[in-house]
Amino acid sequence: MNTHRLAVIPGDGVGPEVTASALTVLDAVEERYGFTTERTEVLLGADRYLDTGELLTEQDVTTLSGHDAILFGAIGSPRVTPGVLERGIILALRGAMRQSVNLRPVRLYPGVPTPIAGLTPERCDLVVVRENTEGAYVGTGSTVHRGTPAAVAVQESINTWYAVERAVDFAFRLAEERRRKVTLCHKTNVLVEAGALWLEAMEVVGRRHPDVETDYVHVDAMCMHLPVSPERFDVVVTDNLFGDIVTDLGAVVQGGLGVAASGNLNLEGSAPSMFEPIHGSAPDIAGRGWANPAGAVLSMALCLSTLGEGAAAAAVERATASVLADLPGLAGEAMGASTDEVAQRIVGCLDTMDETVLSAPSLMEQLAVVRAGMRDRA
Ligand code: IPM
Ligand code: MN
Repeated sequence: MNTHRLAVIPGDGVGPEVTASALTVLDAVEERYGFTTERTEVLLGADRYLDTGELLTEQDVTTLSGHDAILFGAIGSPRVTPGVLERGIILALRGAMRQSVNLRPVRLYPGVPTPIAGLTPERCDLVVVRENTEGAYVGTGSTVHRGTPAAVAVQESINTWYAVERAVDFAFRLAEERRRKVTLCHKTNVLVEAGALWLEAMEVVGRRHPDVETDYVHVDAMCMHLPVSPERFDVVVTDNLFGDIVTDLGAVVQGGLGVAASGNLNLEGSAPSMFEPIHGSAPDIAGRGWANPAGAVLSMALCLSTLGEGAAAAAVERATASVLADLPGLAGEAMGASTDEVAQRIVGCLDTMDETVLSAPSLMEQLAVVRAGMRDRA
């Protein structure tokens, strides 16, 4: 029987609640799909930082590195200066674990309310591949004359061929398993230097995949097309900052931050990938059972798919979609059930679910194939 070593970082706010729900569902699929996990809880976040001053230590990195994957809840607290935990833990982890792409599916499940009038699930099934290690997120730059009227702040965006080509290559491999279309989202009309590098990567990698159609969209136009014509997109590849922004928009289109999942993928297999719901720690609703666990559960499913448990992952996706379809609302009191009850319903659906709840193929099965191909390249 396969055993996967999982590190679990519940984090702050609603993080522990939604992570507990994801683990409840994981327990249930392990029994049904014949694999096991060994789990190590790693406490990172506001409490530890306020107690000890520690963010992500070398010891944490060593501990986490000894696992096959990481499940992450959420980090952030009003008790800590904004940015300290986010940069010191989330971004530090993505860098330390060389998680070079952030994969963010934007899929509208049947019956899930979307604010976009008339949008149907068949028209909304795309995946954003966000470069995850550089761009404006590298944290380089400087300020001179700080605090004076002459202050100058320089914040650089770094784009290396190495990282850009790798993200674009992954996007094409994923598209091969899907509807065979890759769209570059950038701002090449203004960011001409970075833009040229991304365009060249599209060109070079595209030649290796002649059967994949390529397209380009400026990021501002993307914000218009994504809500009104998501069917235009299959795999969208973009830089770190644009990817951050457009995936919040994507999350709203698919029903809200509570249902959106993501995976930070280490494509070489040199360190664990990390899976986290897109939502933050939501301290205002923490402890009330109001958080929707779907984002965390679907992130756990993405995790399973990259560990080679594609069938289990697809079952979790279908069960989650069935439960979401029947909820009166997607978060808070409107959800009509607590975080834990939603998880229990997902477990209940694993046995009774309608296999046809999703008409299009599941990303969960596509990922296992892509991952195998990536390891071959490494
Ligand atoms: C996300 C978040 C993070 C990001 C923050 C918390 C650093 O917004 O995962 O999208 O900007 O990447
Ligand atoms: Mn974000």
